[in-house]
Amino acid sequence: MYHANALRLTRLESGIGHLVFDLAGSPVNKFNRQTLDELREVLALVAGSDLRGLLCSSAKSGFIAGADIAEFSSQFRLPASELSAWLAQSQALFSTLAALPIPTVSLIDGQALGGGFEFCLATDYRLATRAAVLGFPEVGLGICPGFGGTVRAPRVMDTQAAVSWIVSGQSHTADEALSAGAIDALVDAQLLLESGIEQIEQALQQPEVWQQGRHARQAALTPGDTGAAACAGVRAALQAAGANPNPAPALVLQLLERSVAVSAAEALAQEIACFVSLAHSDVAASLVGLFVADQQLRQKTRAWAARGKAADRIAVLGAGIMGGGIAYQAALKGIDVQMKDIAQAGLDAGMKEAQQLLGRQVQKGRLSHAQAAEALARIHPTLDYSGFAEVDLVVEAVVEKQAVKQAVLAEVERQVPATAILASNTSTISITALAQPLQRPAQFCGMHFFNPVPLMPLVEVIRGEGSSEQSIASTVATAQRLGKTPIVVRDCPGFLVNRILFPYFGAFAMLLRDGADPRAIDAAMEAFGWPMGPAWLLDVVGLDTAVHAQAVMAQGFPDRMQYDFTSATQWLFESGRLGQKSGAGFYRYTPDAAGRLQKQVDEQALALIRSQQKASRDFTAQEIVDRMMLPLCLETVRCLEDGIVDTAAEADMGLVLGLGFPRFRGGALRYLERQGLAAFCALADALAALGPLYHPTATLRAMAAAGARFHA
Ligand code: 3HC
Repeated sequence: MYHANALRLTRLESGIGHLVFDLAGSPVNKFNRQTLDELREVLALVAGSDLRGLLCSSAKSGFIAGADIAEFSSQFRLPASELSAWLAQSQALFSTLAALPIPTVSLIDGQALGGGFEFCLATDYRLATRAAVLGFPEVGLGICPGFGGTVRAPRVMDTQAAVSWIVSGQSHTADEALSAGAIDALVDAQLLLESGIEQIEQALQQPEVWQQGRHARQAALTPGDTGAAACAGVRAALQAAGANPNPAPALVLQLLERSVAVSAAEALAQEIACFVSLAHSDVAASLVGLFVADQQLRQKTRAWAARGKAADRIAVLGAGIMGGGIAYQAALKGIDVQMKDIAQAGLDAGMKEAQQLLGRQVQKGRLSHAQAAEALARIHPTLDYSGFAEVDLVVEAVVEKQAVKQAVLAEVERQVPATAILASNTSTISITALAQPLQRPAQFCGMHFFNPVPLMPLVEVIRGEGSSEQSIASTVATAQRLGKTPIVVRDCPGFLVNRILFPYFGAFAMLLRDGADPRAIDAAMEAFGWPMGPAWLLDVVGLDTAVHAQAVMAQGFPDRMQYDFTSATQWLFESGRLGQKSGAGFYRYTPDAAGRLQKQVDEQALALIRSQQKASRDFTAQEIVDRMMLPLCLETVRCLEDGIVDTAAEADMGLVLGLGFPRFRGGALRYLERQGLAAFCALADALAALGPLYHPTATLRAMAAAGARFHA
């Protein structure tokens, strides 16, 4: 009856229509403009036909993944009137589906999320397989459901469950959906179509029951089943969770509190107003921007990986925290690892680290004891090069000293097959410099993991001057196999993430020099959205590591990263404070009953810092944020200009994944862009006396003058 790019409609023998979603050229079905246009045509066709009922299913492994998020960035820049008109049109389409004069059934196999689930809620019945996953992820994008989800879900499902699903943004299994009343029945995948036909026949036999359901969905909810009561529990949970920079959960809850008490028609209008105000927020722009950046990054990664070959066997040199973490990650993903150290004590520590990490997976129920034991058996500790003749890739994770790394790399190069790739996990030292003593520099690159390895998703894959495309491609493929998100960057001291982090630490050092209290700096940066302030972060990194890395960065970029004063980090380090690892740094750390380190104010550290300050001075939170964020953002701009990273999307993703840059701010370049490039340069000029870390580049000034942007 209908066959277009995203939808096809056929007439079954029983006179029932079968609408199949199958968007050409896309791995998922989504409501992009084209699908919505085709749906309009199909519904008009159905309404004018003699079909007895309508079944809706998907030809893909999922049902429908929601509205097309890739279209959001441009849509959300539309003025309120145009955005409202788009939503009103889409809502009208779903209302047309809900009002068809025949029974309608969604057959859900796989994900039905956001607009996809809203579509299901507009049909009379929902049958799902065990593979179904349902939910409203919209709040995670800083928005609320906009195709009638806030109106239909509380009227179709258990009201409290509906409110909780919408406000939390979490996805739910088919069983959870059944007990929440989100689906009518769970059916076997093979029987899905047949069960749908039965459901339609049943509705036709009992039209009053089928129609009753429709009437209930149009009305305001009665005080007994609803509103205040259903929302109150969710409100309490939201308040208990504390302040949230993302306004979507609180605003959608307010919407639901109002809209459950009015008619469906009125509630739809209220949903549009809420959606538009959220869509125009900075948070939505950031979160949608990150979704798109992630999509772009994944496409690039796939292209790289397709040209390479992921390692089947790897070796790790150095069994410290990083080496042990990398070995654990590889073993977890089914890869055999030779873990070499020069000392038995090192190997024991590395094995202990891997064992503890696997134990935690067992505790959390993610691995069985047998699986954990199997994974551990994949790690082969060794003091010599046994097994190295069979490896495809070696990750060097020895002490962060150029001469030591060079010697170790030159030695290991003689032990591995000529085809093997050597990768250094250095966090700051130039890959080109490390390649100097190697016979096969083409097969050498950087593979920089972040600490703690199991938790941090990013791996920087660094191209030295001599690294071959093939080595980069295979290292990307291996990082992917390890479950990480690789970003390919060009070589320079600190690469992308640490090159940007150290100017931020530089700003911190200057604030302390100028009289600020480290606790006030941490408080301001945590309120800004960072998971931990810079003083706490330095304690986690280790003050010894930070001082050492700072020296490498200063050598690489003396004009702006060489301090002309002694930093507080240096003072504390010289007084024997190494941060968390020694129990004291900027703060003091004591383990609680569960062994987790608790951070406490350390008067001795504060006294030491004060003794080095000329005067103490109070800075406002905004002054602190400006002084901290400017050098970080400007260094990100420099990395982009220097070609260290290819795109603004990758730079922002790198900071979010590698540093924990607050997601709701979308990354450094998006944050900068949000301030306005001209305003940002003006702020930098006002702080220019602080030194070159605060000086905008000529290109940034030119972009500001031309009204250019980093992100489309
Ligand atoms: N819009 C645009 N692209 C989407 C998309 C969407 N809603 N959902 C998935 N995609 C893309 C992915 O980016 C990916 O693109 P790529 O091939 O270029 O990398 C591709 O589809 C396949 O996705 P995954 O690799 O993530 O496949 P999985 O099988 O691992 O996961 C999924 C599938 C669970 C659907 C996951 O993609 C997902 O969570 N998508 C987002 C779902 C979402 O947030 N929906 C709500 C949209 S907002 C909305 O509907 C508003 C409405 O109320 C008005």
